[in-house]
Amino acid sequence: MNITLRENIDWVGYVDWTVRDFHSYDTARGATYNSYLVRDTKTALIDTVKGPFGEDLLGKLAALTDLSKIDYVVCNHAEPDHAGALPAVMAALPNATLVCNKRCRDALALHFDTSTWKFQIVGTDKSISLGSRTLQFLDTPMVHWPESMFTYVPEEKLLFSMDAFGQHYATSCRFDDEVSVATAMDEAKTYYANIVMPYGKQVVSVLEAASKLPIDMIAPSHGVIWRSHAADILAAYADWAICRAKAKVLVVYDTMWESTERMAQAIHRAASQPGIDAQLIHLRRSNLTRLAAEVLDTAAIAFGSATLNRCMMPAMGAALTYLDGLRPAGKAGLAFGSYGWGRGAAIAIDRWLAQAEWDILSRPIRALYRPTPEVFDQCRQAGKLLAERAEKVASKGN
Ligand code: FEO
Repeated sequence: MNITLRENIDWVGYVDWTVRDFHSYDTARGATYNSYLVRDTKTALIDTVKGPFGEDLLGKLAALTDLSKIDYVVCNHAEPDHAGALPAVMAALPNATLVCNKRCRDALALHFDTSTWKFQIVGTDKSISLGSRTLQFLDTPMVHWPESMFTYVPEEKLLFSMDAFGQHYATSCRFDDEVSVATAMDEAKTYYANIVMPYGKQVVSVLEAASKLPIDMIAPSHGVIWRSHAADILAAYADWAICRAKAKVLVVYDTMWESTERMAQAIHRAASQPGIDAQLIHLRRSNLTRLAAEVLDTAAIAFGSATLNRCMMPAMGAALTYLDGLRPAGKAGLAFGSYGWGRGAAIAIDRWLAQAEWDILSRPIRALYRPTPEVFDQCRQAGKLLAERAEKVASKGN
């Protein structure tokens, strides 16, 4: 495995091949926790790994250098998948100073016993010389935690970008041009949708600041390093930050006795017009991680649920709760579903759309037990409305 980014700058992270659940994120391709060692007159470790893999990290460091020669440990982000190994690392490196911003120091003190650690507080406009290389720091608050920070090496045009531009993607290769770039991009999009989407405004600010830096290589804390497609991932982030929509429609549903499913199929058929990417998603045969990734670049979405004990189906409740947190911007939607008595799930979904401030394209479409020809006609109309919205949004370029 090629681990060398530049001369004496090496990847020393951990490939987590078997993880499939990352605080509810479905990591179908596993994950990596990237850590980097920069050896110069002074030596710096950039980020660590998840706690259980601290010994593995120390073994990789010992293979490259004398642990007593590591002068700095930079912590760009306090979340435990990157900082979890810090207690073991700081205990094993007798001469290391922990370099982070003030918010990160405070967050680390809430997670760990940091009373014996030496700290050097940095942030935007601060830098540390390692000899022939410099570490420059850029605070990136809420991308995606308050203390998040980038570290930049100007002599190498190399950005250590923490979670930003990352992917949950276990592979034996460390670089974008050693894997399928389509897969890396798809995982980066999934990562953005599920982790970073609520912070689009902050991402726009960060991209603006990063645009002032010459960047040849982006080394995130997860997944492959962007060295051949750095410009492509920056451009993709510019689109994702504003939830730029394609000519795309989703029909997302859960069903009991196929009434809502037949309505979903009727809406989907009507939305499936030339030039429109219309997708049908049965929530219990998909997962929330995939749903978020599809929502990110979709213009219009129909949500449908059968009514179960006066409420929407549990899978739809989970989906809407999840999307409530992710706050996809600029979307349009409508509600549909069957019911037997009570007000029904479609009413509750419609209320959710209003509270989330989505543009609601029609009144909720409801079927009493079974969809009638009139209900199917409403579904066909809804499908056309969804397709029209998608076409309009895509033609405007958002
Ligand atoms: Fe990969 Fe926000 O931690």
